[in-house]
Amino acid sequence: MPAYQRQGSVPPKRHIQFRDAHGSLYAEELFSTKGFESVYSLLYHLRPPTATLEVRDWKRPRIHFDLNQPLRNRHLLTQNSHNENDAIEGRVALLGNADITISVADVTKPMEYFYRNVGGDEMLFVHRGAGVLETPFGDLAYRAHDYLIIPCGTTYRFQPASPTRVLVHESTGMITIPKKYRNEFGQLDEQAPYYERDFRAPLLGPPKEETGEYEVHVTNSGRDAIYIVQNHPCDVVGWDGYCYPYAFNVDEFAPITGKLHQPPPAHATFEAPGAAFCAFVPRLFDYHPLAIPVPYNHSSVDCDEVIYYVSGNFMSRRGIGEGSITLHAAGAPHGPQPGAVEESLGKKSTDEVAVMVDTFQPLMLADAAFDLEDKDYYRSWVAEPVKA
Ligand SMILES: [Fe+2]
Repeated sequence: MPAYQRQGSVPPKRHIQFRDAHGSLYAEELFSTKGFESVYSLLYHLRPPTATLEVRDWKRPRIHFDLNQPLRNRHLLTQNSHNENDAIEGRVALLGNADITISVADVTKPMEYFYRNVGGDEMLFVHRGAGVLETPFGDLAYRAHDYLIIPCGTTYRFQPASPTRVLVHESTGMITIPKKYRNEFGQLDEQAPYYERDFRAPLLGPPKEETGEYEVHVTNSGRDAIYIVQNHPCDVVGWDGYCYPYAFNVDEFAPITGKLHQPPPAHATFEAPGAAFCAFVPRLFDYHPLAIPVPYNHSSVDCDEVIYYVSGNFMSRRGIGEGSITLHAAGAPHGPQPGAVEESLGKKSTDEVAVMVDTFQPLMLADAAFDLEDKDYYRSWVAEPVKA
């Protein structure tokens, strides 16, 4: 919710009669968060969004998670995952805790149904591919390197125009722009690495007028159902407010650089309860004459660090490729692999693109994570034996 938006036709005041050219009332819907006390939007439908014909079971397989045991750093070769399907059935869960579930999906099929996650916000990072997110707020065109932030309860269909690889974050809370980037009125301040113009809202087209039987797959904190509704969910003539899906492309991120190494919070993009998100994008390195461009060794004792590698030369990591995920677990030291510091000296810039999520509760591993793991990764900081 970067700023107020208004699209299509809305009446001059909220909660008053609003009619079409034939005198029929539009159906107003309040789309609100945290009860009635946080951001919200008002949508005007041709027909009520409440007309449910039938509720069926959605027998969705449960994700099985295990502890990161023995506790160690992990490397998941998600580039070897090829569960090609639609954007929901194609999700391969990898990591999760009570606050967030992280999956990858190789999306090759359009959704024949709508989907609504009422358990929290979702954020999809598009590694490659292009297409459209169809929502009642309008169509949100996506492309590679987009973050798509989808508020809790948004009904949508994810329709790829080309094969699309996404990294999926399902939060149990609200995914927001960090407060440190906002002034006292909510505007992005001068020190923020992005500006309101960098965020894209859906574009509302003509309302879908047809009626029939539309499937909406609804999930909420492990409870699932398939709703058959009578009215097309995208029959909206206008909406306004602060709560809507939006896109931010990390190529628009203006990274904060410095004379000496900047820690990950300098690259923060979004935050959620129990999680902080960062983006590492092409940038100039530190400009002190003796600067070391790669990060220092550290044990992040308060969080598990997850990095998804998108493109470029990941100079501080041995054996990492596009689509790799590293999990650097709280308490397990990590840093540049042997030789990486020396290799980095004198380098002026990096072309890497990677996205990160730090979680403040330990992450568990889903079955697919163990299947995709490079099990020797935790030894990658050991120097090669010196040959006699
Ligand atoms: Fe780290």
